[in-house]
Amino acid sequence: IAAAKAAAAAATDIESLREAIMAFDGCPLKPGARNTVIDDGIAGAPLMLLGEAPGRDEDRIGKPFVGRAGQLLDRMLAAIGHSRQEGELAPAYISNAIFWRPPGNRAPTKAEIAICFPFVERLIELNAPKVIITLGNTPTQTLFEDAPGITRSRGTWRDHATAGGAVIPVLPTFHPAFLLRQPAQKRLAWADLIEIRKRLQS
Ligand code: URA
Repeated sequence: IAAAKAAAAAATDIESLREAIMAFDGCPLKPGARNTVIDDGIAGAPLMLLGEAPGRDEDRIGKPFVGRAGQLLDRMLAAIGHSRQEGELAPAYISNAIFWRPPGNRAPTKAEIAICFPFVERLIELNAPKVIITLGNTPTQTLFEDAPGITRSRGTWRDHATAGGAVIPVLPTFHPAFLLRQPAQKRLAWADLIEIRKRLQS
């Protein structure tokens, strides 16, 4: 973790941070992954999303949220006028709590999350978003160790204080992969998106 912290702190822009993550060999998931999956979307966007970890498709392609969950995520973003693509819609930036696929898509361990965290924190600092959405338990508990499960933590704003002293409002909501399995919960995720839109417009 000390090595991750030093490498993250040394990066002064997103491009050099990406290079530092690519070059980092301290995460035990890396040897089993095909790609290092860092981010997608528009750096510096006021809206940042944080997911869990790359899955099979993301590992293959090297970008976050390219599978079915990603398609739903893109529709969720479009519903509030945002997109990770350059164009008419307002910009969004996407990353994950973990940059390498855990074998068989198992949940990442606390240790794996802790190793990646200095880089996640630096991505947040360098992007300086106005708001962050955490998708599901893993990224929510990455930012807030004491957060209850997502069913209880979703929909309630919390402040994340970065190591560098910035304070960024965070709204946890359901992970799109969960919404694909439990479509009845989309109603609650929709309410969260409305909250996000309001905060972005304020
Ligand atoms: N699920 C995630 O949490 N992140 C991805 O990048 C893809 C699926």
